[in-house]
Amino acid sequence: MTEQAPGKVDMEKIVSLCRRRGFIFPSSEIYGGLSSCWDYGPLGVELKQNIKQAWWRAVVQERDDIVGLDASILMHPQTWTASGHLQGFADALVECKNCHLRWRSDDLTGNNCPSCGGELTEPRLFNLMFKTFMGPVEEMANVVYLRPETAQGMFVNFQNVVNTTRKRLPFGIAQIGKAFRNEITTGNFIFRSREFEQMEIEFFIKPGTDEEWFNYWLEERVNWYVKLGIKRESLRLRPHTKEELAHYARVCYDIDYLFPMGWAELEGIANRGDFDLVQHASFSGKSLDYFDEETKEHIIPHIIEPSAGVDRTFLALLCDAYDEDIAEGEKRVLLHLHPDLAPIKVAVLPLSRREKLAAVAKELYADLRQCWMANYDDAQSIGRRYRRQDEIGTPFCVTVDFQSLEDNQVTIRERDSMKQIRVTIAELKKTLQAKLEGEDLFVLPPGGSIWKEGESS
Ligand code: GAP
Repeated sequence: MTEQAPGKVDMEKIVSLCRRRGFIFPSSEIYGGLSSCWDYGPLGVELKQNIKQAWWRAVVQERDDIVGLDASILMHPQTWTASGHLQGFADALVECKNCHLRWRSDDLTGNNCPSCGGELTEPRLFNLMFKTFMGPVEEMANVVYLRPETAQGMFVNFQNVVNTTRKRLPFGIAQIGKAFRNEITTGNFIFRSREFEQMEIEFFIKPGTDEEWFNYWLEERVNWYVKLGIKRESLRLRPHTKEELAHYARVCYDIDYLFPMGWAELEGIANRGDFDLVQHASFSGKSLDYFDEETKEHIIPHIIEPSAGVDRTFLALLCDAYDEDIAEGEKRVLLHLHPDLAPIKVAVLPLSRREKLAAVAKELYADLRQCWMANYDDAQSIGRRYRRQDEIGTPFCVTVDFQSLEDNQVTIRERDSMKQIRVTIAELKKTLQAKLEGEDLFVLPPGGSIWKEGESS
């Protein structure tokens, strides 16, 4: 990774926006924080939820060849022997003999400690899994691990899913959930944390169809990010070299995003072959094969795995959506978030706090929040309030003014263009629904008009 990708927003601005507006806080901040753990605030939790919902919709709801799962985080310890994580999920670390800081040896360019220049030890393997104990006695027999990936829950449930859903190959299992890694090099905000969320698909296929499905998923997954508004030129596909391939993978490509610090992995797509089912069958002694009705043969399916990170998608979306322009002579910060992802879909802004106006605005707000996450804001000038909503990516603001009391109409203001239309209150919900689904602002409902410059509330 490089220091700062040219033409990209710098990370400081994203961190500052997240802090200022309540997207993300350092974990347990009042105690000084906990390294590489983060708390998602009121707006962050909405954006994160929307990302997960968009993914679930695309991979489970809208397909009939993938089903969902929510496996437990703690799994039988044998899982991690079978998966290879106990032996293989490790980073080679060197320690400075002088200041005792540890470094990943593949991160170092020279032979000395980057911090104090001291002499380094020979590399030693350090397992990235968090260990804990199950039950009251802290002894080796009771050791369990916090899962470092959600994938294993899907492999061990393969037979359960086949038996209960009667799915035939090719089909997939999808899961969203927390994963934990005792990462050595952290940093770049939420890019590499010790507790994070994954959105993973394990797609089971007939051996021999690997290439076709691998290519299918590469295209499908890139398109998902583009559909959510990430610029295509900020994404690239990068094949893994032989040396960096994980122990389970035959082929792997990263979908990289051009983050402020340079190109880095957003999602990995791997052909895991039959590694996982063979390993779990062998360690558990339970058959994990599949009866192919066409050939009347028992086979071990191969697996194509698109594995994405919720937090990295969150960061990529913010970096991509961040923009600054000039509005009414002042700098405006705005997030061009896709309406499906925006934490708040609509804000209701009464032009003044006068009782008559407030009553209408509050009634509207109560009505709109039945459908969407909405905000009500009556503090400070209308310009300031628009800026506040732009900064958090709210696609539409509804302004209630004195004329509304006479004509039962309100204005809808669009975030990106700052253009406004005026619609009847009776048509408001239907109009907002259409605009949130992508209809052009100037397609007017019955009784609607374009709000002209100067008339603007
Ligand atoms: N099951 C395969 C697997 O876990 P991975 O490439 O190690 O593959 C998949 O992880 C995705 O999980 C990554 O592309 C990234 O988005 C996310 N991820 C992995 N480690 C992470 C970390 N420490 N912090 C945040 N996200 C992480």
